Amino acid sequence: MNAPAIPIKTVEYEKPSEGASCVAHAWARTPAPVSPAEKEELKERIRRLLREREAVLVAHYYVDSDLQDLAEETGGCVSDSLEMARFGRDHAAKTLVVAGVRFMGETAKILSPEKTILMPDLDATCSLDLGCPADEFAAFCDQHPDRTVVVYANTSAAVKARADWMVTSSIGLDIVKHLHEQGKKILWAPDKHLGSYIQKQTGADMLLWQGSCLVHDEFKGIELDLLKAEYPHAKVLVHPESPANVVEQADVVGSTSQLIAAAVNMDADTFIVATDNGILHKMRQAAPGKNFIEAPTAGNSATCKSCAHCPWMAMNGLRNLAEVLENMNNEIHVDPAIGKDAVRSISRMLDFAAAKKAKVAPSADLAQEAKLFQGIGPA
Ligand code: 13P
Ligand code: SF4
Repeated sequence: MNAPAIPIKTVEYEKPSEGASCVAHAWARTPAPVSPAEKEELKERIRRLLREREAVLVAHYYVDSDLQDLAEETGGCVSDSLEMARFGRDHAAKTLVVAGVRFMGETAKILSPEKTILMPDLDATCSLDLGCPADEFAAFCDQHPDRTVVVYANTSAAVKARADWMVTSSIGLDIVKHLHEQGKKILWAPDKHLGSYIQKQTGADMLLWQGSCLVHDEFKGIELDLLKAEYPHAKVLVHPESPANVVEQADVVGSTSQLIAAAVNMDADTFIVATDNGILHKMRQAAPGKNFIEAPTAGNSATCKSCAHCPWMAMNGLRNLAEVLENMNNEIHVDPAIGKDAVRSISRMLDFAAAKKAKVAPSADLAQEAKLFQGIGPA
């Protein structure tokens, strides 16, 4: 049976240039829906192919719920960007299939150049990555040689290669705090909302690239305030890529994994969630019986560009996943010279995260803290 034609949609995003932002256009294609019978057949085929190819599926919480379930059920993982990177690096499989967006596949390749990294759709990108071209970013860094360069995971391999540190949303705050305590001035890219949230929390001197996530940028503070009035007992969970007037209303701000943990652990039965609605699948599984309400993306004053679902995460489907496993195509390649530089900034973060985990309890002992971070950084 021939797969149906895949509709292409145009996607608008904010592209910072020379300090000002303008609107740019990209595109995304969404896999055509599958019938219930085809779904079962595809899932079975994927399970078989994962075994035959000795491959492991590493998925993000924003992708199709069937892919998330398959990843867990077959010994892979579904997680946030930090854990995806760590899991892929540490897994013994020679082939990783990354269901997410391109920077996640590239990070896996940079950390494990000897592994084959496949993706269901190599054109699944990210507005933060698109809005931070490596040449413009390098020129920005050249203008500020006194600053430690910290970039978010949602960037190209070439941008990571120019950075001193790469961070994800689950550990960015801790790493910037650590650098600030060492007296470092920071150049941050590309997400302006995450950057200004970290800046406010840490008091660090941060110069921000002005990129944004087209999904999170759509959450509206005024409408969220109204929704909270309707649900006065609800707790508000917010991803820090959201605008400041949304973050300010949060009970918890954190990465996707941290928001899921909050949904499980907080003593509340209703949550308003300001992040991609793909996360609701895992929240409902992990906290059965609790209610999850999507934070508003559009009111009278807005147009809904993204409807709280990333158009590029949505490019990962059962059909294209089965096809890449069948054909072993859609392989991620990273220029080894770029990979060699980029691995430094990523490994610094992973080493920092490992050291932090190893710490049993905060010591409040500066000498001990200094020992803990020996050999990890700074740039
Ligand atoms: P997390 O690292 O929190 O999963 O975020 C990745 C991402 O792209 C959020 O939009
Ligand atoms: Fe990028 Fe936003 Fe999509 Fe995450 S949700 S991959 S930040 S565009």
